[in-house]
Amino acid sequence: MNTTVGATVKWGVLGAARIAEQALIPAIRAAGGHVAALGCRDLQRGQAYAQRNGIPHTMGYLDLVQNADVDAVYIALHNAAHLPWALAALAAGKHVLCEKPLTLNARQVAQLQAAQRIHGRFAMEAFMYRFHPAIEQLHALVRDGAIGQPRVMRGAFAFVLDRPEDVRWDPAMGGGALYDVGCYPLDLMRQLTGEQPDVLAAQASYTDRGVDHALSALLRFGDATAHMDCGFSLPFHQGFEVLGAHGALRVDQPFLNKDRDVVLWHDAHAHRFPPTDAYVRMVSHFQRAIRVEEPLRYPLDDALAQAETLDRVFLAMEPAPTGAM
Ligand SMILES: NC(=O)c1ccc[n+]([C@@H]2O[C@H](COP(=O)([O-])OP(=O)(O)OC[C@H]3O[C@@H](n4cnc5c(N)ncnc54)[C@H](OP(=O)(O)O)[C@@H]3O)[C@@H](O)[C@H]2O)c1
Repeated sequence: MNTTVGATVKWGVLGAARIAEQALIPAIRAAGGHVAALGCRDLQRGQAYAQRNGIPHTMGYLDLVQNADVDAVYIALHNAAHLPWALAALAAGKHVLCEKPLTLNARQVAQLQAAQRIHGRFAMEAFMYRFHPAIEQLHALVRDGAIGQPRVMRGAFAFVLDRPEDVRWDPAMGGGALYDVGCYPLDLMRQLTGEQPDVLAAQASYTDRGVDHALSALLRFGDATAHMDCGFSLPFHQGFEVLGAHGALRVDQPFLNKDRDVVLWHDAHAHRFPPTDAYVRMVSHFQRAIRVEEPLRYPLDDALAQAETLDRVFLAMEPAPTGAM
């Protein structure tokens, strides 16, 4: 993999997005990176955002990905814009950290893999929760056989999305609860077992425009059965547990936990982790990877497996009501 990145990684942020402002821009700085420029569709709105966030330059998307002062692009656009702009950034020789879901389907991840082979840059799906120490400890305990072979998993992630204009309600922008929140518990199930699921049943509720806003799925990951539910028309809740023949592990607040304690339960024993910024840990790792100081923990092969998992759940979901799209 070619890399030309110096000690301070220079970042371009694509999209004057909420998540960039709330989490990634501060995380890049806390990880020692420099936020060099913002890409925005609307330069006036972008300049106000850039000023508020101390970003020196604002420009259009194409200028951002081709900017000579940018080493890595963080893509915070709505889901349907991830693929075209990740491709454009790779083609311009930039490393890419792109919000989850990386793409809308596995076929699109394969396109990114092809581009990566040509352009020799790193790309990673920005699943920050994976970098939280409680999740890393969960993996270590399962790997070390603390509960035996996983037999049953339950994962959930939901909240109330009360902004009617949000991109998540729009089918053309890759809206929907599976893409937005269901991807988290499914990712963790996949990572813990190293398996792709058979989807035994999946049932979703849809908006008039055909966007899934609440869903449940029953799955099998190798020898483990799993239940996942998610939504953005449900009260906020998140949780994950995995049971084996010799014990149970449970993480309270596994996915969104920047400012709160996270408790990892091993049977009746509680291991409390103080608030940790997993976004900073993710950016730090990505920066070390693009400087070739450590291997990338989640290369595109992993993103492909994740996208295939979502594809399988979509396939099993009842189609949206006729005419809903
Ligand atoms: N990892 C996490 O914890 C986390 C949390 C929340 C969201 N996310 C992910 O981050 C991404 C952005 O989510 P967000 O909540 O930050 O969304 P948001 O604030 O609505 O931002 C979406 C961005 O999409 C861009 N966009 C491009 N074309 C657009 C169009 N036609 N209409 C509306 N927006 C358009 C906008 O860019 P301009 O600024 O150029 O207009 C906007 O900045 C999503 O992929 C989401 O899954 C991740």
